[in-house]
Amino acid sequence: MASSTTEPLLIIGGGLMGLAVAYELAKKGRKVEILSRQRREAAGFVAAGMLAPHAEGLQGNLLKLGQLSLKRIPKWVETIEKDSGINCGLKICGIIVPFTSSTQKNNHPTASFGQTLNRKELEIEIPGIAPHWQTALLFKQDGQIDNRRRLMRALEKACVGLGVHFQEGVEVLDVIHDHKIFKGVQIRNAKGKITILSNKEAVLCSGAWSKQIFKAIPVFPIKGQMLSLQAPKAALTRILYGPGTYLVPREDGLIVIGATSEKNAGFQTGLTPDGQQQLHEGIEDLLPSANQWPQMERWWGFRPCTPDESPFLGASALQGLWLATGHYRNGVLLAAITAELLAKCICSKKLNIEEYELLQKFHWNRLTEK
Ligand code: GLY
Repeated sequence: MASSTTEPLLIIGGGLMGLAVAYELAKKGRKVEILSRQRREAAGFVAAGMLAPHAEGLQGNLLKLGQLSLKRIPKWVETIEKDSGINCGLKICGIIVPFTSSTQKNNHPTASFGQTLNRKELEIEIPGIAPHWQTALLFKQDGQIDNRRRLMRALEKACVGLGVHFQEGVEVLDVIHDHKIFKGVQIRNAKGKITILSNKEAVLCSGAWSKQIFKAIPVFPIKGQMLSLQAPKAALTRILYGPGTYLVPREDGLIVIGATSEKNAGFQTGLTPDGQQQLHEGIEDLLPSANQWPQMERWWGFRPCTPDESPFLGASALQGLWLATGHYRNGVLLAAITAELLAKCICSKKLNIEEYELLQKFHWNRLTEK
C-alpha cells in the first residue's frame, strides 16, 4: 500500500466512471480522493444498466471495446460484490431487438452476433408484443446490471472499504496547468469558498460536464428521460430493445423504460410532457399491455456525448491529467474496461498489444490530428 503521506490521485467526478477508476486504483494500492459535486446527477444513477454492445448495434472499435468490457464484467462484478457485500443484480438475460422485416433485421450492424427469431418464436419470448414486429434478433450474450439501486452503492462501499476518500459537494471549476503539466484544480467547496487544490495527477471523469472543467475536451449533454413500471411477476425475462424505447426487467419485476434522446435540450433539467409521452408511445409500439402496469418513478439525466459518440480514454494534452469521459450511451457497459485500461496506464503497467492499439483509437486527439 502507498504510504499515508503520499499525495492522493484526484478523481474529478463521483459518478460510475469515477467510482470504477477509483476502485481499480485503490485495489492496486493507490491513494485516491474523489471530488464530487452532486452524485445523484451522475449518469450512472440515471441509466437503465444495459450491457448491450450487440443490441445497440455498436460498430468498429467501439464494438471491440464493448465486447472486451462485456467479457470482463462477470469477474469485475464478482470482485465488487465480494468487497462491498452488495449483490449488483448482474443478469446476462439476453436482449431481443424486434424488426418489422427481415431486410431491416439483416441490416442491423451486429446481426451476425444474434440469433434470428420468427414471429412465433418472438411471441413466445415476449408475450403480447405488438403485431407489426415480424422478426427479431436475440443477443443471448447481452444483459443488464442494476446500476441505479445496486452497482453504484456497491462501488461506493467497496471504495470506502479500500480507503478511498470522498469530498462531497465540491465543484471543480477549472484545471490548473503550467504549460503542458497538470498542477491541480480550482474548486468551490460546499460552503462556496473557491480555492486551489494543488496536485500532480488526476483523472477527469466528469461525464456531460467535462468540457465545463477542461475546455479541450468536446463532450456535450444528451438528455434522457426515463420511467419505471411494476410488471406482473416474470412478465418479461429478457430485455426488449425497440427503436427509441427499451424495457429492462429487473429481478423483482420492476421494468426500467428508457429513454428519450434530446439533442437540443442542453442542460435543461426536469421532465417534460413531450418526453414522457414519447416513452408511453414507445411502450405502445412495442408491448401495449405494459402501458397498463402501475407507474413507479420518472427521472432524467444527461448522457456525456462526443462528436463521434465514443469515449475519450487515457492521456490528455496535460502530463498528469488522464481522461475517462464521453461514454455516451454505453457508460455502464464500458465502466469495467475503462477502469482497467486507465489503472494500467496510471500505474505504468504494461498493456498488451490489443489494449494499447485500442487506447490509441480512443485518444482525445483522434478528432483533431490527422
Ligand atoms: N444505452 C441506452 C441509452 O443511453 O439510452
